[in-house]
Amino acid sequence: MSTQTVPTSTAADVKRVTTQTLQEMRAENTPIAMLTAYDYTSARILDAAGADVLLVGDSASNVMAGHETTLPITLDHMIYHAQCVVRGVQRALVVVDLPFGAYQGSSREALRSAIRVMKETGGHAVKLEGGARVIETVKRLVGSGIPVMGHLGLTPQSIYKFGTYKVRAREEDEADRLRRDARKLEKAGCFAIVLEKIPAALAAEVTEAISIPTIGIGAGAQTSGQVLVTHDLLGLTVDFNPRFVRRYADLAETVTGAVQQYVADVRSRDFPNENESY
Ligand code: KIV
Repeated sequence: MSTQTVPTSTAADVKRVTTQTLQEMRAENTPIAMLTAYDYTSARILDAAGADVLLVGDSASNVMAGHETTLPITLDHMIYHAQCVVRGVQRALVVVDLPFGAYQGSSREALRSAIRVMKETGGHAVKLEGGARVIETVKRLVGSGIPVMGHLGLTPQSIYKFGTYKVRAREEDEADRLRRDARKLEKAGCFAIVLEKIPAALAAEVTEAISIPTIGIGAGAQTSGQVLVTHDLLGLTVDFNPRFVRRYADLAETVTGAVQQYVADVRSRDFPNENESY
């Protein structure tokens, strides 16, 4: 196993990102860079490379477990992924998604789930989806000392209600509801809100109207920050090509080439050579 892969720094060198840091970045108009992470090795690399926020997203259900939707992932699975990520992070704020079924029942159920996340993972905040219907829950969690990130627009846990992954809030009634939901989440105490797959003009308007950071995904350039699923950015999810993803690498091709070479070297007995043997 290789253990020498990323630059190392000691915890003492590093100033941690907090919810307060994000508020300051918003005030200074410094865009916030957030990415998803699900495991120790990747989290270490993403953190050392400068991501401000690592989201242990329930998209783990898709990219790690191969499910079609985010619905099957459980609270125990999310806790496992978050524990792995937290062990790899020195600087970034770690936000953990509350999965489908872990908070919708009641604010009491949500608090129980969020307390498990905070106690068992060492994560710094939780994220949950929805507007008006989660306000009581947000208040209860924040009132208990747990920072909460909201999530509006395309909320994948409601995919069977929407019936499609198309852009949300194009119609005025839904856009208006989203504006009101954002203000309610802010008032209830959220420290930031993810805006997913909504028109850029609406995301810009919401960002202007509230005093907490907005983090966009498919929401244009005028939000306080951006988030992408890391596997999309790295070109590991080959059959997923939405317009809002920019691919910064083609790791599927790189990995395929490396593995093909390894297989060929094993077959030809080129690997291992004398220097790689004892
Ligand atoms: O689970 C996830 O990856 C997310 C981001 C897309 C915001 O919620």
